[in-house]
This record gives sequence, C-alpha cells and structure tokens, in this order.
Amino acid sequence: MCGIVGHVARSCSTRPLEVVMDGLSRLEYRGYDSAGVALTHGEVDDGSELTVVKAVGKLTNLRAALAETPTAPSRSAIGHTRWATHGQPTLVNAHPHVSMDHRLALVHNGIIENADVLRAELRAEGYRFVSETDTEVVVHLLDRAFHDADLPAWEGELAGLTGPDSDRGRALVAAMLAITPHLQGTYTLLALSEEVPGLIVAARRSSPLVIGVGEGENFLGSDALAFASRTTDAVEVGQDQVVGVTAEGIVVLDKEGAVLEPHHFSVDFARERATKEGWSTFMEKEIHEQPRAVAATIADRLDATGHLALDELRIPESILRGADKMIIVACGTASYAGLVARYAIEHWCRIPVEVELAHEFRYRDPVVNEKTLVVAISQSGETMDTIMAIRHAREQGARVIAIVNTPGSTISRESDAVLLTHAGPEIAVASTKAFTAQIAATYVLGLYLAQVRGNKYADEVEDYMEKLERVPEAIQWVLDRAESVRQVARSMADIDSMIYLGRHVGYPVALEGALKLKELCYIHAEGFAAGELKHGPIALIDEGQPVMIIVPTPRRPELHNKVVSNIQEVRARGARTLVVAEEGDTSVDEYAEIVFRVPRTPTLYMPLLTVVPLQIFACELAATMGHDVDQPRNLAKSVTVE
Ligand code: F6R
Repeated sequence: MCGIVGHVARSCSTRPLEVVMDGLSRLEYRGYDSAGVALTHGEVDDGSELTVVKAVGKLTNLRAALAETPTAPSRSAIGHTRWATHGQPTLVNAHPHVSMDHRLALVHNGIIENADVLRAELRAEGYRFVSETDTEVVVHLLDRAFHDADLPAWEGELAGLTGPDSDRGRALVAAMLAITPHLQGTYTLLALSEEVPGLIVAARRSSPLVIGVGEGENFLGSDALAFASRTTDAVEVGQDQVVGVTAEGIVVLDKEGAVLEPHHFSVDFARERATKEGWSTFMEKEIHEQPRAVAATIADRLDATGHLALDELRIPESILRGADKMIIVACGTASYAGLVARYAIEHWCRIPVEVELAHEFRYRDPVVNEKTLVVAISQSGETMDTIMAIRHAREQGARVIAIVNTPGSTISRESDAVLLTHAGPEIAVASTKAFTAQIAATYVLGLYLAQVRGNKYADEVEDYMEKLERVPEAIQWVLDRAESVRQVARSMADIDSMIYLGRHVGYPVALEGALKLKELCYIHAEGFAAGELKHGPIALIDEGQPVMIIVPTPRRPELHNKVVSNIQEVRARGARTLVVAEEGDTSVDEYAEIVFRVPRTPTLYMPLLTVVPLQIFACELAATMGHDVDQPRNLAKSVTVE
C-alpha cells in the first residue's frame, strides 16, 4: 500500500523527476488515491530550493500538474503514490509532506500508531499541522531533530558530500536515527532537504524498501520494480535500519548508527516486462499469461532421480517428517489458493491441514508448536497481515514455508523455506495469474512433502508432476475459447448480484469467482459450497438471479451428480444458470442456460482451469460497465498495513 520512489544524482538535470515518475507509474498498483513528488534544485553554495507538486487521484493527474507548471532541473527527488489510511484522499493529505519552513520533505508508507500522542506533543511546542495524516508528525519530528543543535551529528562518511553538505548530511542521518525509536507502527520513510540536496535519508520498519545501485546515481523504491529497467544491482534494507543514499554511495546503518555491510541481490530481469504488450489492460494480459506462469512455477523441480526440490530450504527433513499439522495462512485470493491446496495436501500427505485468514490467525490463540508447519501464501510477499501471522507462528516454534511471487520480499526473508511462484510481475490489482501459480506451487509443495514423509514413492510423484505439466496446455485451451465467455459477460451488464456455487475443489473457485466480481464490477457476489445451498442460500434465488456453478468431473459421480442436482434446484426457482463443466459432460446441457467448457483434467487440478472463465467473465463485465479493470476503486495491490 502506497508506492515510494527516490532518485539521487551528482548534478541537476531532468533525470530525477523522470526516474521518479517512471517508478511511480510502475508502483501505481500499490495505491492511486493521490500522488506527489518533492525535488531539490541547485547547490548549497548558490542557493538550493525544494519544490513539491501533488495531485489528487491517479498519476495522470500529477503528470498534468507537472506539465502545467514545469519544475527546474533537480539533484534528487522522492515520490509517492498513496492509498489513503489516515485522512481523506485530498491534496493536503497527499504526500510528500513538508516541514513548516518548507525546506524538508518526506514520504511515508505504513501507519504511525502513536501519531496522536506525538502530534499533541509537537502542537504544544508550536508545530502547526495542515493535514490529517500520521505522516506529518514524522516530518515535524525529523525537522525538529535536524535543527536540534544539541543532537550530535552521525560520525560516518556520506560518499561524495564535502564541507557544509557533509555536515548537514550527517545531521540529517543523525536526525533519522534519533526519531525512529520513538515511532510505533510501521513505516518506510524517505526524506530530503534543500539544505543537503545530494542526499536522501530513509528508514524502514515492517514496510518494504530496496535500493538500486547505479553509476553516479542511486535509486530507492518500495519494490525493485520501481527501478528494474535501470539497474540489476539492488541492496536490501533490513528491519529498523536507516540508510543514507548519495549519488556516489549507500550507507546502511543499524538503529544505533553502526555501518553495516550492505547485502546486495540481483533484480529479476523478467520484471522489466511489466508492460501491457498490446493488451488493453494488464488484467487481460495476466489472465492470458497463466499457461506460462503455471509452467514456469512447476518447471525444473524434479532432479534426475525424480526427487522434488524447493527454492530455499532451511528446515531439516526430520522436522518435515515429524510435523503433525499444517496451517496455511494467507489473505484474499491467496487464501483461496490455500483452500484448494488443502484438498491435495491432505490427500497426498495424510497430514491435517487448516487454512486460516492471516489476520484472524494470531488473535484466536491458535495451537501452534514446533510440530506445526505453517505455509504462508502471498503474491507480494509484503502483506502485513500475513507477515504478522508468520512472526506469531515462529514465536511459537513453528517452521514457516513461504510461497511468494516476489523474491527478496519480507515474507520470503522471514521464512524457513521458500517456494517461488514464477508468475512474473502482477500489475493488475485483482490477482489472476498469481492465483493459479500459487495453486501450482502448493501442489509442488504437497508432492515434495509426500515424498519426504514417505507417503508417495518417487515414481508416483513423477506421475503427478507429469500430469501437472499438461495443465498449462489445458489452460490455453480454455483461453482459446475466451471470446464466448466475453460475449456472455457483455450481455449481462444489467445484473446487480451473482451467486457462485462449487463443491470440493470447486468451492474455493466459487469464492474466488465471487471475489473477482466484487472487486472489479462493484456488485454483490457471493460464493457458497454447493452443499450449503439448501441450508439457507437457496432463499436468495428468485426469477432471473444469475448463478454460476462449477461442476466437478463426471468421473467423480459422488461429487458431480450432487452439483447437477443443485443446478436443477436453482433453475426450478427461476435462476439464470451459467455452468462451468468438463468437455463432453452433456448431463448439464438440459439445465444450463450457458455452459463454459474446460478440458478433462484430474480432479485436483481442475481449479487451475475452472477459475479461468470466471476471471474472464469478471474482467469483461467490468470493462462493459466502464470500470477501471486494472485499478478498481478503493483497492491497492499490496496491503502493507494491518
Ligand atoms: C484479490 C487480491 C487480494 C490478494 C490479497 C493477498 O484479487 O489480489 O485478495 O490476494 O490481498 O495479497 P498477497 O498475495 O500479495 O499477500
């Protein structure tokens, strides 16, 4: 939530603004309530200045504001795209926030939980507040510390800064070190001052920040995607660390101000392909990327002896063998991937699997100990609810396996094992290819555990993997028939609610289909376990109520026949029935107004196919209704606050 970008160069040019605006456009998925930039111009000796430009709404409004009032060449820049937490999405609440003398600017991602107390203290000292944000408290605190003559400057060196520049730079670093222990909550902070235009000072706690290493310039971003096309060399910023970034160097400090060895990692080049590539929306592109996303996630997992491997494993096999329970924690779509996974993992590994929304998990005092395996599923790897859940689990002695799409993300760093989904960057706010890649990854995990725990022989694992490898082709088969789904969606722009029904692995698919419709079309949609229908939800059915039913394969008659009966039951009460059914399953034809087909696939793998028409349906219906498919209202791609 909220995207943050920074850039610092050796001399003034248009580049800092260009880099920051480009970075913001790559991070806009993180929030789009408002956007803003702060730039430093000139040199300290001959008069430096700070400019702040902000606009409410999407980045395009900020672009228009900058076009109307062009800014002078700059030495450094910070930018922010906001998902509003404290205060309405208005101009005064937009970041960057500035000190009262307008010489220091700051952007923030996270929530300062003790903002009220700090605000009262600052007000008593005469500080005036113009916004309703928690962030403005931080800018005043930083400014107060920066100008506190009694605060000793930080003792180290900031590469490239000399004379008064160096002195003020060390004072700004000292100020950031001094204030962060007083902040409760979560933050990524980036600050710059016209008193030291060649420096950006940053800090983080439980919100993401990475630094990109350039030549004669450096970059900062909430996500490496912000600068992925400009450098492949990135530096991690750890919990409670403070950094000073100049054009010539980066110093990473612990909370006491001691210099740490920077930990470099390589930025994934695939992230560069975060463009629409001819599709009219990212969501359409990402739906169509699913065969590749699933194939890449399961590729090269088997070694020559038929044994599966995870990406990073810091858990002894004896612990995996001794585990007596698995708890999958995740939110939203990722939690539905977990619900699908439960069917497969319990079946293959004979271990009880619970699936829990990450934000509920730690508050119910769950029974977790060193024999519990916790699996965290997250596209972004930065979802705060999921981070807090895994921290809680580890405190109780559990081992955590992360399934994430973002290498180097907080969840992957804080887990004992990592399995990467290779879906590539997912830009559309509503998740599609990450969901199917997550399901595929949980299957790899389930088979891996079945192999380690002795529930499946290597040849059985190989057999399941071979069948899984055929799924991308089957997804392509569904995508090749997307136009028929789109046509139906276009004809249904008048609906004001939709019910989704599924049984067994079709049940989480029903939940996901309903979530896609809510997010994209802003209409009420609800997914039910089909068996639950007669226990209440059937009362919702009246003339014309659209119901989407996911039908299991006829090869599992104990599941299939009951769902076919459900179609008849809702049809008899006037429902419009849209059905997702296997190719050749003619039993549904008589009761279904519309049938979307999927090819024959093993039951456990069916969600990878049956969800696709539901994604296409929601995407096309939203477009027909005139909604912004990639950036639905009120949402942000990664939910980095609780
Ligand atoms: C829905 C959606 C969200 C996310 C959820 C978890 O389309 O994208 O429900 O699945 O916010 O996000 P991650 O996977 O990043 O932890």
